[in-house]
Amino acid sequence: MKYLLALDQGTSSSRSIVFDAAGRIVAQAQREFRQHYPRPGWVEHDPLEIWSTQLETAREALAGAKLQAKDIAAMGITNQRETTVVWERATGRPIHPAIVWQDRRGEPLCEALRQAGLAPAIAQRTGLIVDSYFSGTKIQWILENVPGARDAAGRGELAFGTIDSWLVWQLTGGRMHVTDVSNASRTMLFDIRRGAWDDELLAAMRVPREMLPSVLPSSHAFGETEPALLGAAIPIGGVAGDQQAALFGQACFDAGMAKNTYGTGCFMLMHTGERFEASRNGLVATAAAQPAATKQYALEGSVFIGGAVVQWLRDGLRAIESSSDVEALAASVPDSGGVVFVPAFTGLGAPYWRPDAQGAITGLSRGSTIAHVARAALESIAFQSAALLRAMQRDSGAPITELRVDGGACVNNLLMQFQADLLGIPVVRPQVVETTALGAAYLAGLSAGVWDGLAELSSHWRAERRFVPTMDRDRAAGLMQAWEHAVRQATAA
Ligand code: G3P
Repeated sequence: MKYLLALDQGTSSSRSIVFDAAGRIVAQAQREFRQHYPRPGWVEHDPLEIWSTQLETAREALAGAKLQAKDIAAMGITNQRETTVVWERATGRPIHPAIVWQDRRGEPLCEALRQAGLAPAIAQRTGLIVDSYFSGTKIQWILENVPGARDAAGRGELAFGTIDSWLVWQLTGGRMHVTDVSNASRTMLFDIRRGAWDDELLAAMRVPREMLPSVLPSSHAFGETEPALLGAAIPIGGVAGDQQAALFGQACFDAGMAKNTYGTGCFMLMHTGERFEASRNGLVATAAAQPAATKQYALEGSVFIGGAVVQWLRDGLRAIESSSDVEALAASVPDSGGVVFVPAFTGLGAPYWRPDAQGAITGLSRGSTIAHVARAALESIAFQSAALLRAMQRDSGAPITELRVDGGACVNNLLMQFQADLLGIPVVRPQVVETTALGAAYLAGLSAGVWDGLAELSSHWRAERRFVPTMDRDRAAGLMQAWEHAVRQATAA
């Protein structure tokens, strides 16, 4: 029996999961690590803490599975995307804390790119909108603010990597400086049509090519781990950004197949096949995980406040004691009674892109209770996701026939039913909801020959529950209109 070890390096924790050859979880381990907020709008991680927690969980997961490194056919790595690390090649020492994807400090540099008229070229080549979310201006900021960094980078002494690159570097004892296409596509420096770093964009963000990792397909022989780390060398066979890995783990391999991950935020991705097309409806185009030589693309929309609205009900409003109480409170009323909650705590992401939007609760009456507000909060997650799906359908021109779901909040049946009702298509929850790690394991297992191909992986995918729409379509359309009206109010300032 062969096993796969998936390393899932997320924004708030490092996790490792051992899967068997049927894609079932054998053992897992998780460690949280510290978040640093040195100034408003800044978010940092310690790259060495990321590495040490990740390694500890890998060791714990192996021990939990009662396995040794030699039992592992291959390791897959998946990661929080865009987060930027710059380190010295000679020593492996990071020259600055990791700048996390949520960090906004690159905004003035982004404004300069917009002023220089580069937004259309960036959209056409990278698929992205100009935003400090992506890695390019984070690298630029480090080179401009760490004394001596720009000169050292010019001399080839520094390496840049997203978290996947950083982990592979550490795991291989500094032998491999690589990334995969799905991570490279989040840097705003990578031409996803040509599959190459873009010289004009590198010049615009003043990033020397010498710092950049080699870009490989997501399922590939990336190198072997240092034997001393886990007891024996393990081949690294798969690397992908976490949202693309989740799309892969959901077996969404063909154009038109879509998944939504309900976490702190929500990330919806739809596979668009082998053809790249920039979004015309407020989404970004991105490289999907690439199991072979052929390029694969996806459309993506991100909602900034998804499950986080439930945390706000708990910690800000103190309406519930624990997050899991929200379903019962929301279910204690038949509907939201006309209350609409726009959780624009940090502006609104796709497809609205309104950084200036502010949170709003509209439609309150004397009869409104905290239960209506809780229900409206849950519904806001579904409304935002429905707006993304509608944009995807407009971009692709083809109907999406079902939405596969994962992430912490997908266990909420009320939310999933409302989501299906709004969308008018089935919402399907798989048996294995750890799809991010599973996707990384699949990519690794494919390159190690554990599985023959995508058809075999598709056959592993099993629905646990299908939520079929039952709401009258006119009523769903009316609710969506009320949502859009509330969004206009929240962005009217
Ligand atoms: O683009 C950011 C995303 O990759 C972060 O995912 O699950 O670590 O919050 P997560």
